[in-house]
Amino acid sequence: MEKKNIDWGNLGFGYVQTDYRYVSNYKNGEWDEGTITTDPNITLNECAGVLQYAQTIFEGLKAYTTEDGHIVTFRPDLNAERMMASAERLEMPVFPKDRFIDAVNQVVTVNEAFVPPYGSGATLYIRPYMFGSNPVIGVKPADEYQFRILTTPVGPYFKGGVKPLTIRISDFDRAAPNGTGHIKAGLNYAMSLHAIVDAHKQGFDENMYLDPATRTKVEETGGANFLFVTKDNKVVTPKSNSILPSITRRSLMIVAKEYLGLEVEEREIYVDELKDFAECGLCGTAAVISPVGKIVDHGKEICLPAGMSEMGPVTKKLYDTLTGIQMGRIEAPEGWIHVIK
Ligand code: PLP
Ligand code: COI
Repeated sequence: MEKKNIDWGNLGFGYVQTDYRYVSNYKNGEWDEGTITTDPNITLNECAGVLQYAQTIFEGLKAYTTEDGHIVTFRPDLNAERMMASAERLEMPVFPKDRFIDAVNQVVTVNEAFVPPYGSGATLYIRPYMFGSNPVIGVKPADEYQFRILTTPVGPYFKGGVKPLTIRISDFDRAAPNGTGHIKAGLNYAMSLHAIVDAHKQGFDENMYLDPATRTKVEETGGANFLFVTKDNKVVTPKSNSILPSITRRSLMIVAKEYLGLEVEEREIYVDELKDFAECGLCGTAAVISPVGKIVDHGKEICLPAGMSEMGPVTKKLYDTLTGIQMGRIEAPEGWIHVIK
């Protein structure tokens, strides 16, 4: 398969249109058989549920070319399950797990020419999404839905790759207590847009959101969970029911324990404790693990001892092990690597 003529090494995290996408429609209480199409555009009724009341959910995963030339995805079953949970919370029909995995296989296979080569530093980002498509004017769920998967080759989420980030504690919330913070709904990201634009204007890379009820505990950023390393090398991550259960974070906790022999803990983390950590990282499919060098709390700077020039040692080991597993250099736990071809 001849690859597309793309400068893989210089890709950022942006949309590059690929040749094919997957589409399935839900009508009269059932999903159709689904198909691959070349048309990137969607024609919708002006009153579609997604346009009026933001009834839309999504997922994000990646296809990797391994060292021995296979194309694989990482734990797609967990993306399928999380999308099922998102659908239930927004009163949308569930797209079955086996069909989700089959659709990912199909759309990656036909877009093989866009899957970045091994060693390029780029990957094929896979974006499954679903939205209410029929007209809705009273506030209620739509009756018809479309499930689609688009793919786009991507490089690092943060410019500068693995250079430590500077983040600020945000005065805005991204989620409500008992709201939708734990699902992957477009509305959560709409909530975060003003906060991220403002953070960038003030010179910060990202926002650290606090728990919306008490504003004393660390939650997550707009697109990644937090991992902290204590001075005695324990890996800790915030426990909260208003953050997205990151597949990367859940996997890294296993990597830390099983591969690196580190103690791990998921617990509430108070803002007051931030000054005591040795390392901090943002983890997610797009972010992989991006190190944080500085956290600014209303003008007060908390500088992580790992510094502003490179990843801290534990973060680096986690990064190398996780990416090693994803690229086939390190043996993966049973069921983590899904071979497409
Ligand atoms: N938190 C938020 C708000 C996200 O959007 C994402 C991205 O998917 C994550 C965390 C990381 O989740 P995952 O590791 O499953 O990609
Ligand atoms: C991901 O990591 O897949 C995300 O969805 C984060 C961001 C691009 C929204």
